Amino acid sequence: MGNVAVIGSQWGDEGKGKIVDWLSSRADVVVRFQGGHNAGHTLVIDGVTYKLHLLPSGIVRDGALSIIGNGVVVDPWALMAEIEAIRKQGVEITPERLMVAENAPLILPVHGALDEAMEMTRGNKPIGTTKRGIGPAYEDKVARRALRVCDLEYPDVMRRKLERMMLHHNALLKGLGAPEVSVDEIYDQLMAVRDDILPFMAVTWQVMDQARQEGKKILFEGAQGMMLDVDHGTYPYVTSSNMAAAQAATGSGVGPDAINFVLGITKAYTTRVGSGPFPTELEDEVGQFLGEKGHEFGTTTGRKRRCGWFDAVAVRQAIKLGGITGIALTKIDVLDGLKEIKICVGYELDGQRLDYLPASQVKQADLTPVYETVEGWSESTCGARSWADLPAAAVKYVRHIEELIGAPVTLLSTSPERDDTILMQDPFMAGR
Ligand code: GDP
Ligand code: IMO
Ligand code: MG
Repeated sequence: MGNVAVIGSQWGDEGKGKIVDWLSSRADVVVRFQGGHNAGHTLVIDGVTYKLHLLPSGIVRDGALSIIGNGVVVDPWALMAEIEAIRKQGVEITPERLMVAENAPLILPVHGALDEAMEMTRGNKPIGTTKRGIGPAYEDKVARRALRVCDLEYPDVMRRKLERMMLHHNALLKGLGAPEVSVDEIYDQLMAVRDDILPFMAVTWQVMDQARQEGKKILFEGAQGMMLDVDHGTYPYVTSSNMAAAQAATGSGVGPDAINFVLGITKAYTTRVGSGPFPTELEDEVGQFLGEKGHEFGTTTGRKRRCGWFDAVAVRQAIKLGGITGIALTKIDVLDGLKEIKICVGYELDGQRLDYLPASQVKQADLTPVYETVEGWSESTCGARSWADLPAAAVKYVRHIEELIGAPVTLLSTSPERDDTILMQDPFMAGR
């Protein structure tokens, strides 16, 4: 028996939240290890919808402990607002059920302002960020000027660090012609929120270590997806953290041996929100069909997601780079009713065939997908709860994807509802 890391294998929004919620009935601890409230995870439980951004998707279950790890950038106001919203839905959130790493960096109001100002400088080529301040907050972490959760205990330290930080940022904002942000303003806001946050602060690496010693099962929850990874994704059209499973260790304070199975959440087609290369994007009626049937609107920003065919090349690459053991294939039901389905099995660039996604943004922008066409199915797979309920063509599609990406389908999801999930292999039991 082992621990499981869940990561996205495409450009995010693969259905990680639903799968983490489903798997968390088998886990004792659920820990987020990167990203911030740029994430948007939708859970549907007996018809009731929960929208989560920073809170681990295990929070809705009684029993499992939720941890926001040190690799996450925490906006304290967004966290408190989310806790309130989820409490209103009847979920109990106490310091016994939710812990925030003392060494997690904070997102401050200035980071959102910088995120917007930097997007403005990109003119007609913006990244299309969520404007949540994620990039600037990670920049501050690496530049060693971030305020961290533990600093909230010491107002003097907070003010000193803020003054240094704002010297840097206000020079930048001024240069960009954006309004400056006052130290006093942020300081007062922090003083107002610290008493709400501090009760949740914990030495989470020790809590994780204790859990491991007691043989408890840990579920590591990733946000975003491998193609948005700052090292391995479609740079610079990426977010500012690593999604690869290796990050689950650093981002929560355990060694890499704590991860026994990596489940790559994978949509049966592809979506992307924001700008950047997307070789299999469909700007025709099929793209529209996928968007409408799949309700492809962002959970965080409400933006329309771009839709396209399944890209087996990109997912195969994500499997290698992310360390994925098996995948959970989601939203297969969205393909119901299509006569033909295409799968990208290679790219063409300057008359040459490529079997991988190259790193250069120039090359990425010029790729033409090479498709294989497979037969669709007219029957409904929506809500199927057993393999035997699936039409033969759908089974064939799943098997073919396994072959192309070189990894097994461990789980299959057939609707947004928690229990419309088919388990092929229990990842907690199958790990190395
Ligand atoms: P995440 O960011 O990876 O957690 O994914 P999101 O929650 O942003 O987006 C996935 C969307 O698809 C959500 O609205 C889910 O409720 C929904 N969803 C998840 N799995 C399935 C599925 O198998 N079928 C359908 N139709 N919808 C699904
Ligand atoms: P979940 O966890 C999809 C995208 C943004 C933008 C880029 C950078 O729900 O899968 P950022 O605000 O992070 O600096 O934006 O990354 N992005 C996501 N796309 N799902 C997400 O999270 C995303 N989080 C960020 O749209 O293109
Ligand atoms: Mg999402």
